[in-house]
Amino acid sequence: MAEFGFALHATDGGARRGTVTTGRGAIATPAFMPVGTAGTVKGLYLDQVKDAGADIILGNTYHLMLRPGAERIDRLGGLHRFIGWDRPILTDSGGFQVMSLSALRQMSEEGVTFKSHVDGAIHEMSPERSIEIQGLLGSDIQMQLDECVALPADADTMKAAMELSLRWAERCRVAFGDQPGKAMFGIVQGGDDESLREQSARALTAMDLKGYSIGGLAVGEPQEVMLAMLDVVCPILPAEKPRYLMGVGTPQDLLRSVARGVDMFDCVMPTRSGRHGLAFTRRGRVNLKNARHAEDHRPLDDQMACPASRDYSRAYLHHLIRSGEMLGMMLLSWHNTFYYQWLMREMRSAIEQGRFAAFAAETEAVWEQGDI
Ligand code: GUN
Repeated sequence: MAEFGFALHATDGGARRGTVTTGRGAIATPAFMPVGTAGTVKGLYLDQVKDAGADIILGNTYHLMLRPGAERIDRLGGLHRFIGWDRPILTDSGGFQVMSLSALRQMSEEGVTFKSHVDGAIHEMSPERSIEIQGLLGSDIQMQLDECVALPADADTMKAAMELSLRWAERCRVAFGDQPGKAMFGIVQGGDDESLREQSARALTAMDLKGYSIGGLAVGEPQEVMLAMLDVVCPILPAEKPRYLMGVGTPQDLLRSVARGVDMFDCVMPTRSGRHGLAFTRRGRVNLKNARHAEDHRPLDDQMACPASRDYSRAYLHHLIRSGEMLGMMLLSWHNTFYYQWLMREMRSAIEQGRFAAFAAETEAVWEQGDI
């Protein structure tokens, strides 16, 4: 089995072109991971996700432990077999979803206690249990359990969460041990405080983990703050390990973060926006709810190798979305997933050819014009 590793092939300014290797296959970076929260990338067949070019998808410990349960997935042969995906899967640890989804939660040194949003049952999750669950799922890239605070937050709250996350990183490192072909990433926290971010990045680097996530961003702060935190954290993290910015973002966020040295991303944006009638295209953003598309014969993008982009008129998509039809949501999720993978492919080749800044400037100009 291939060892877990990261190879850097080219850099262009701060942008990096690399390959993450796992026992289940390679991931070309910069990479965007479609989100398969509950064992499905919402509205898509996994063949569509694969055809779009995704090397890896993300699953969520929080959702899967509540339903259908980690032990059940293990008995069914693991998450890959259960959902029918043979490429790498990265799982989030549950820390963030507990914060954003569960009504009642309590953090202690030992772990987090929370009330399930599914049936109201009380669950406990320690760092060790999070790693155990991610192991039962068969995840290739696991995340440490962490505490993520919503911004704005006061200095003491951010400091305490960052320090707790560091202690949990160490416990997760020990619980994970050494698993061939797999990795456990630490998560940089520290809110919007540069000094806390620096401390977090330094302490995690000293743990010599196989990769590093940057968490606690895109949680209510302006984009400049997120980018300022990347400017602090990325230069500290070791160049020879992958860096993953969690839960981000818009095409512009991705371009600006890749420019600062981020290698991996995940976000519900392409699928969630698709379900709400928004399409990301190479010419800009199209809001298909808008009446101006009602008699537009043109497809979203006739140059894209995706049937959803090429073979359906904007008029029909407008009708489907306005009618709340499932097919409209499925087609737009498909198109957006394709666009995001296209964007990453283009970024990768721009870095290889030393023209990342020019590509980013061109693409940013498209996003500055508002809805088209
Ligand atoms: N997803 C988005 N942000 C975060 C974070 O800070 N922590 C975790 N575990 N997942 C995230």
